[in-house]
Amino acid sequence: MNHSLKILDYVYKHFSNIKIASSFGLEDVVVIDLACRVYEKPTVFFLDTGRLHGETYYTVEQIRKRYNINLEIYYPDANDIEKLVREKGLFSFYESIENRKECCYIRKVKPLMRALQNTDGWITGLRRGQAVTRSNVVPFELDIDHGNILKVNPIFNWGLNSLWTYIKMYQIPYNPLHDKGFPSIGCEPCTRAIKPGEDIRAGRWWWESPEHKECGLHKK
Ligand code: ADX
Ligand code: SF4
Repeated sequence: MNHSLKILDYVYKHFSNIKIASSFGLEDVVVIDLACRVYEKPTVFFLDTGRLHGETYYTVEQIRKRYNINLEIYYPDANDIEKLVREKGLFSFYESIENRKECCYIRKVKPLMRALQNTDGWITGLRRGQAVTRSNVVPFELDIDHGNILKVNPIFNWGLNSLWTYIKMYQIPYNPLHDKGFPSIGCEPCTRAIKPGEDIRAGRWWWESPEHKECGLHKK
């Protein structure tokens, strides 16, 4: 915990215009709690894809009430969505990896670009233990894709147990789906509960192989 606080303290002292990216999963509620310990009113952005679980919206409000944060919610471009569903229907993402990436691009990646415009950087809840695609996550990165801004991953080396200990210790509100077999939560049609012993991201895009399981928010 101490090194994460030091990372965040350093970042908020040196960069005035930095935002936390939050999907309000268990990593992100911990990051918000940590940030609020070193900075008075952090800005948090949430990409609302339009296909999230009801429980996720509930969690957003729980966190908004508990913490002094400046919450920005970004939505996909309405024209993009209308064109997509007119041409390919509401479940095109099950048909091919290209279609899945197209939907993620419209609903997440494009709104992320807007969220990051004119910022010095962003803070994420990425962890090495989350996936094979994330085993090299480092605390500070230069994000070339978004205009050479800083990308900070303050809990890069936390394990699942540490996250839960922290959440319980400080009674942080968390997404109730975590108690129903969802360790990793994304959009409702693309996330399902996992069985005991399965990989923590096994329920995300479960029909794809592990090396494809990124939506484009984070480059491999
Ligand atoms: S994803 O790329 O597979 O969807 P994951 O759910 O593991 O990502 O989250 C990794 C990090 O990406 C989160 O800790 C958060 O910083 C950011 N993130 C993911 N989804 C969103 C979202 N909907 N809004 C804002 N940030 C998000
Ligand atoms: Fe679309 Fe699924 Fe990606 Fe959400 S996770 S943006 S519904 S393909």
